[in-house]
Amino acid sequence: MGIVLGIESSCDETAAALVTTDRRIVAQRIASQDAEHAPFGGVVPEIAARAHADRLAPMVEAVMREGGLELHELDAIAATAGPGLIGGVMVGLVTAKALAMAGEVPLIAVNHLEGHALSPRLADPSLAFPYALLLVSGGHCQILRVEGLGRYRRLATTIDDALGEAFDKTAKILGLGFPGGPAVERLAREGDPRAVPLPRPLVGSGEPHFSFAGLKSAVLRARESGRYRDADIAASFQQAALDCVVDRLALALDAMEPVPALVVAGGVAANRAIRGALEELAEGRGLRFVAPPPALCTDNAAMIAWAGCERIGQSDPLDIAARPRWPLDPGAEPVRGAGYKA
Ligand code: KG4
Ligand code: ZN
Repeated sequence: MGIVLGIESSCDETAAALVTTDRRIVAQRIASQDAEHAPFGGVVPEIAARAHADRLAPMVEAVMREGGLELHELDAIAATAGPGLIGGVMVGLVTAKALAMAGEVPLIAVNHLEGHALSPRLADPSLAFPYALLLVSGGHCQILRVEGLGRYRRLATTIDDALGEAFDKTAKILGLGFPGGPAVERLAREGDPRAVPLPRPLVGSGEPHFSFAGLKSAVLRARESGRYRDADIAASFQQAALDCVVDRLALALDAMEPVPALVVAGGVAANRAIRGALEELAEGRGLRFVAPPPALCTDNAAMIAWAGCERIGQSDPLDIAARPRWPLDPGAEPVRGAGYKA
């Protein structure tokens, strides 16, 4: 059995965790920076980097103490090396490099998206490759065929906003604060999902890509019209987003080589309505449905430590660079209309 220290600092969560190769989360700490970013309605990169720099070292100290371990007893130190806000990524990666040197243990530079993509395997030991993955977070919205460690085929991405971003913008329009996803989900429970006519961008189109910018603009117009209750807008938005996801995913599943399981990961995977709809889609196609517990869906260090566990035996050089962009499938065709997106 091996044990890996994981470090996450790519966005607005500072986190450290110890995870074993037999899937035990021995210790973990996570600090959200919601309060610091809330006044700005979104993550401010400079504030995030400074907060990571202040908090990370004591968190690492705390998990090591709780695990009763010295640095040299670790099998590896895994840190997010991208994609993400570069200042924050550098804080985590440089910390991991220093710890790896001090403990004379291998450094593993983890792709944050791979952390999300493999997190369902931490939660569910029986989940084997290959599987279809819907990866939905604040920065990413992709459908992938996960074929093995480091082998990802991207079938779809967003041509504008990510799904989490659409939730966050809807929350902002409704004055629900930041981060918006959980607040929109809560309010949606009190609303009628059919009350507000909203578009389903790209539904029915021949390629399984996503687009949410038009939906967000329609939410804004609905709010400004003054004709609808906020709860009805939230519920109708969530329903429209969910219809898009199910339609796009169904198309992607048709297009990919068959897989036995449908998996969802990333922050938006914490959304119960979306989990329910995906479960139904999977059931209808005779696929297993796997979704990690919500705490493993939003950014955390256990998933980074787990990606390190999956890669145990490998090591990266101490001069490896932090990467603001790092696509899981570098060979994926660029999508017309999309800027360069990881
Ligand atoms: O994976 P994550 O923690 O960070 C990124 O890598 O982006 O995802 C954060 C995103 C945010 O946009 C947040 O609003 C969304 O996930 N989110 C949710 C829910 N919980 C988090 N969206 C909808 N419903 C939720 N319950
Ligand atoms: Zn993430």
